[in-house]
Amino acid sequence: MLKIENLHAQVEGKDILKGINLEVKAGEVHAIMGPNGAGKSTLSSVIAGNETYEMTSGSIELEGVDISELAPEERAHAGVFLSFQYPVEIPGVTVTNFIKTAINESRKAKGLEEMPAKDMLKKIREKSELLEIDRKFLSRSLNEGFSGGEKKRNEIFQMAMLEPKLAILDETDSGLDIDALRIVANGVNKLKSKDNAVVVITHYQRLLDYIVPDYVHVLHDGKIVKTGDASLALELEEKGYDWIKNELA
Ligand SMILES: Nc1ncnc2c1ncn2[C@@H]1O[C@H](COP(=O)(O)OP(=O)(O)O)[C@@H](O)[C@H]1O
Ligand SMILES: [Mg+2]
Repeated sequence: MLKIENLHAQVEGKDILKGINLEVKAGEVHAIMGPNGAGKSTLSSVIAGNETYEMTSGSIELEGVDISELAPEERAHAGVFLSFQYPVEIPGVTVTNFIKTAINESRKAKGLEEMPAKDMLKKIREKSELLEIDRKFLSRSLNEGFSGGEKKRNEIFQMAMLEPKLAILDETDSGLDIDALRIVANGVNKLKSKDNAVVVITHYQRLLDYIVPDYVHVLHDGKIVKTGDASLALELEEKGYDWIKNELA
């Protein structure tokens, strides 16, 4: 699904990612953990094609196709979904209308016609039932006055509707309460399938009490310095990131 080789990236001329190798197969959930400033958000931004970050070497393949030269929206159309850390408020545009537009934009890019209204409604109904999202929420203005949990609910709803091949959830927000974490975790657990892959980026082990990843990677100073199974997250929780730093020293 996703194959990253020797990825190096800079921001404002400063090296941030220093040789990332990562392979995520369909059906897998990977967690990327690491201390603040390790480069976790940079990695997600570089995969999504955020132009603030300059990829200086390496490759990023999605299903065997190098996507590293594609624009962010082209990557999205190819099946990459990145949750937004700081979602924009769009007064007057409802949660439903926003996602309808996003789906139809993506279809247009693939040369498909707009999704018939009946199918769209059916899909909205199915996904909102699956995720236990009530109707009132769907007619709210996008992100306007949303609580942390509501932002997460919207994000997971977008993911459910867009059905990305690869979803990257950057859970950096330290303000996330336990309800918001549960919304993300339940969403991931319900939406994961043998055909998609999820990368959850988090500073905190707590999220991984609810999502059991197949692999956990520790990012430190722009490199993946340790990979293990779910138990690695517990070990990190117990020993702290200093443990990794000391091991490397
Ligand atoms: N837009 C940016 N401009 C300048 N420096 C940045 C920018 N984004 C990230 N950095 C720097 O890159 C490093 C890694 O940041 P980041 O990827 O956000 O780490 P993490 O998500 O692991 O906390 C930090 O030193 C940060 O200051
Ligand atoms: Mg971050």
